[in-house]
Amino acid sequence: MATWRGLIESDYRKWLPVAEETPVVSLQEGNTPLLRSAGLTAQTDCEVWLKVDGANPTGSFKDRGMTIALSRAAGDGVERVICASTGNTSASAAAYAARAGLAAAVLVPAKAIALGKLAQAVRYGAEIVEVDGTFDDCLRIARELAAHHPVALVNSVNNELRLAGQRTVAYEIVDALGDAPDVHCLPVGNGGNITATWQGYQTYAAEQRSTRLPKMWGFQAAGAAPLVHGAPVANPETAATAIRVGNPATREGALTARDQSGGLIDAVTDEQIFDAYRLLASGDGVFVEPASAAGVAGLLQQHASGRLEPGQRIVITLTGNGLKDLDASLRDGYTSTNVSSATSDVARALRLAG
Ligand code: F0G
Repeated sequence: MATWRGLIESDYRKWLPVAEETPVVSLQEGNTPLLRSAGLTAQTDCEVWLKVDGANPTGSFKDRGMTIALSRAAGDGVERVICASTGNTSASAAAYAARAGLAAAVLVPAKAIALGKLAQAVRYGAEIVEVDGTFDDCLRIARELAAHHPVALVNSVNNELRLAGQRTVAYEIVDALGDAPDVHCLPVGNGGNITATWQGYQTYAAEQRSTRLPKMWGFQAAGAAPLVHGAPVANPETAATAIRVGNPATREGALTARDQSGGLIDAVTDEQIFDAYRLLASGDGVFVEPASAAGVAGLLQQHASGRLEPGQRIVITLTGNGLKDLDASLRDGYTSTNVSSATSDVARALRLAG
């Protein structure tokens, strides 16, 4: 079996904006698992597949775009990159910058990102600025700084490089399933991923590698659902911190994906998100971060309201790894038994002995 060497050195290279002389900055991202979910398949009368993008090197789908952004930055002689983030973009940018030998500055909303993501940025050596404001404030500031100072913005806004990399998720899905699914579900925050995934399916269809296009079903958290309400949300609120975005920068792309595909962008409550989060771990053995469960929550909501036609093939992107947000897992408390180191005590605790 050929060794996987990351997206830029894969067969997908011809669709990626890199030149012969572009240095390759990679952590061997991509080629993530696509798992059939027996539980969701039975529950929905559809065929449900999980694209586990939390299996990427820094634990989220962001690595797909970041390999391109940092390769190009390195090729262009950039010395310092900057991004705004709810946590995953900053972890990924910091890692790929470290790999490229560049400096990274990350702007995050103070006390509003999952600790694992902050810990990643710390360890990768990024300069971290915690802003007393929202993600949307961070993005505004990052854009202003990049416009006037020698730092390159690596957010996906106006960044064709990031989106081109993120399109590869659709290529992998079509290659694995033999064609595009009927429906593709995913969480929506800043709007970049639904835009890129849709463009990826379009690219593959145009190249005759698939015979059809899926409907794109995006889901926002109810307290941070500007694309559902049609207006920015000044103080977005959700425990799914990754998608706590009030004014999506890639709004147009997200709405285009929804409308061109005949899909939808709907809202799911935090309760629905956390129910799906628990279900994915206990039912499928896949530990995701809360935001990543929004696609599953949305699918189940569509099913419950009778809007899901049976028999369809459905793919759901699970965008980030559960280890990023341990607090979310342990917040509700948990049960365990504390016993002595005598085997008999452990046996009793497990009801293996009287
Ligand atoms: N899921 C996770 C785990 C995310 O981190 C994000 C976005 C999304 C879904 C939504 O994707 O923004 O392209 O619509 N995280 C960004 C960040 C905002 O800064 O890490 P989107």
